[in-house]
Amino acid sequence: MHGPVVERHLTPDDLAKSLRQDVYDGLAAPPRSLPPKWFYDERGSELFEEITRLEEYYLTRAEKAILRERAGEIAAATGAETLIELGAGSGEKTRLLLDALRAAGTLRRYVPVDVSGDFLVASARRIGAEYPGLAVRALVADFERHLDALPGGGRRLVAFLGSTAGNLDPEGRRSFYGGLRSVLEPGDSLLLGFDLVKDPDRLVAAYDDARGVTAEFNRNVLRVINRELGADFVPEAFEHVAAWDAGQEWMEMRLRPVDGQRVSIPELDLELVLGAGEEIRTEISAKFRREGVRAELERAGFALECWWTDPPGDFALCVARVIGD
Ligand code: SAH
Ligand code: AVI
Repeated sequence: MHGPVVERHLTPDDLAKSLRQDVYDGLAAPPRSLPPKWFYDERGSELFEEITRLEEYYLTRAEKAILRERAGEIAAATGAETLIELGAGSGEKTRLLLDALRAAGTLRRYVPVDVSGDFLVASARRIGAEYPGLAVRALVADFERHLDALPGGGRRLVAFLGSTAGNLDPEGRRSFYGGLRSVLEPGDSLLLGFDLVKDPDRLVAAYDDARGVTAEFNRNVLRVINRELGADFVPEAFEHVAAWDAGQEWMEMRLRPVDGQRVSIPELDLELVLGAGEEIRTEISAKFRREGVRAELERAGFALECWWTDPPGDFALCVARVIGD
């Protein structure tokens, strides 16, 4: 049996270099922040999978319910030969799409893309074994930097599920959608999942679960920095904070040092003095409204074609096409 083809656009060296840069830019001076992509080493990817099974974290279940209902329509509307999945993770929901595209008779190739290399390769291998005849090409790549590495040829469907678009700020989304538009062609489609604005209490519960799995996921970024950059963060000395920003309509995760802390990051020649309560922002998770999504996509050159929600209206899945199609 053939395994997946693996293309590495991020070598361990590139990863180390961009982690050093991000940590220096984000932590050297206040306000302090870290990009969320550094949560996802192998352990971080596993913790995220555990989050998707939590009672409070409705997002994955809601998106899966819509996909179950609509996968056939998506396959018919897109006629995709290649399914490209950005930030693929375990590819758990992807099987619904692969099944529908295979039943429609168009599917040839699956291209999962993720920064979490070992986790990506393991899931690509599982999918390859479950779908004999499917060409699987896994790209270890950063979807904010390597969109020009997406393979061309045939009709492509680019899936960006789980509301991962919400982990980019508005400027990040503008440049991400613009980058996608420049590598896609008429006939290609996007399938995007968005968590919708709702009661803040439910949002806060989804990002601060009772079992503390999200807190562990949040602290994992400090473990990654300790391991990769020789730092001496004490992750347990940071409280997990999940807060709703009503003005920006996004959830924020932060890490708050319980007491004042001195942290040394030898690889960066950096000594940090964090005052008690001086928080590090580790993630934004924007929540969306249909009109905002439509406007952002249109500005980049995509037309919103379908918009489906789950029955309670918690989550939306949408199909968009290159304008001028
Ligand atoms: N799509 C899956 C997983 C979402 S978790 C789902 O809907 O359940 C977000 C995924 O995106 C993780 O697997 C993480 O490793 C990946 N990721 C985060 N930032 C990334 C980046 N800049 N480039 C590529 N992958 C990224
Ligand atoms: C991957 N991403 C869309 C998740 C989210 O909901 O923003 C990551 C996550 N953060 C905390 N819980 C889950």
